[in-house]
Amino acid sequence: MKKVCIIGAGYVGLVTGACLADMKNKVICVDSDAEKVKMLKKGKVPIYEPGLDEIIRRNVRAGRLSYSTGISEGVKSSEIIFIAVSTPPKADGTADLSSVAIVARTVAENMDGYRLIVDKSTVPVKTGEKVAETIKRYNRKNVDFDIASNPEFLREGSAVDDTMHPDRIVIGVSSARAAKLLKELYAPLKAPVIVTDIKSAEIIKHASNSFLALKISFANALAQVCELSGANVMEVVQGMGLDRRIGGAFLNAGIGYGGSCFPKDVAAFIKITEEMGYNFELLKIVEQINREQRGRFVKKIEETLWIVKDKVIGILGLAFKPNTDDMRSAPSLDIIAELQREGASIKAYDPKAMGGARKILTGVKFCKNPYEVARGSDALVIVTEWDEFKQMNLDRVRALMTHPIIIDGRNIFDPETVEEKGFIYKSIGR
Ligand code: UDX
Repeated sequence: MKKVCIIGAGYVGLVTGACLADMKNKVICVDSDAEKVKMLKKGKVPIYEPGLDEIIRRNVRAGRLSYSTGISEGVKSSEIIFIAVSTPPKADGTADLSSVAIVARTVAENMDGYRLIVDKSTVPVKTGEKVAETIKRYNRKNVDFDIASNPEFLREGSAVDDTMHPDRIVIGVSSARAAKLLKELYAPLKAPVIVTDIKSAEIIKHASNSFLALKISFANALAQVCELSGANVMEVVQGMGLDRRIGGAFLNAGIGYGGSCFPKDVAAFIKITEEMGYNFELLKIVEQINREQRGRFVKKIEETLWIVKDKVIGILGLAFKPNTDDMRSAPSLDIIAELQREGASIKAYDPKAMGGARKILTGVKFCKNPYEVARGSDALVIVTEWDEFKQMNLDRVRALMTHPIIIDGRNIFDPETVEEKGFIYKSIGR
């Protein structure tokens, strides 16, 4: 059993904290947002993540998981301190590390014995060095400490499962003591552990996310080639993905990647490498393809409807992907904005993201279910591949629509089946 403090109770921090508590460690999650901590203390989980509520409830009850707004309390009672605060992008694409810096300083000021400070936030290479310098500067009692980088690879929507069953655990350290502590902490997880230097661990995170984004953009570029040639991108990527050297994951063509990680991490990696003197042009093209993919999708809608002005367009799915309520960098935002600019009137439904969407979207009629969206729509546009949409009764949908047109940005239906039901059906790369 280790005593662990997690600073930053966002997606990464809260899930990591809950899962480490479930591995029988004593965990205190610290967040400066008093409202959030109050909510957590009342037993309310501020994010939607399958399975998280239950783990949190179980571990709070067992006395292994607690919350605080004070870093000092967490640092005093814990040996391992994770920094999991957000590192949002600045206007120039670089990560804003001010929260990491403040946390490092406050941790240092409160250390009264050996501490291992582990960075879990996604940060540029060499951040570990800066954190170490900061801690040294404010280490009033001159106690021993180690710095480590332990990047997080969890995905939203499957965060608990990803944390409990990771493909690998990356531990970037500069001392045997730090490596031992982290290996012991993660011992209950049956996953390969790779121990590297701190800079390599930092790069592993940016490189992994950039490579996955590259796979998606590759699939989206192939979708163009398939549309131009009359081939089917789904069959092409299936044929490629069965080669174990390639792998089928993250080769789904669609409307491009969104979310809080890929867009930000690719941009940051381009910037970091540029500052070091390398022009990562490959990643610039990855970004360009991703941007264009949304534009091309809107064009597909326009071509199908001919005139978009005054048409009623029903949007199915608002979150950047299924099983999350997260609207950050969601493709739906750009697509809806463009259609509204063209004069379309928008109805929309998402199983989980309506609350968040209401705060950022204006002029949209939010509906209670997909059928209400379909009623009176000139076209249905599938933006997020929720199971609820895959299971829709298409006969009922068709009867409700003004015109039976589906434009599917996620290829959730078999074209023949939908066309047989009387729809005009457009999808991506086939
Ligand atoms: C990602 C990484 O997967 C995770 O390891 C990291 O820790 C955080 O960033 P996340 O942003 O939660 O996770 O979602 P992910 O499932 O990776 O999807 C990202 C985006 O790519 C979504 O918009 C999704 O729709 C899109 N995507 C994914 C595709 O367009 N095609 C695919 O084949 C896969």
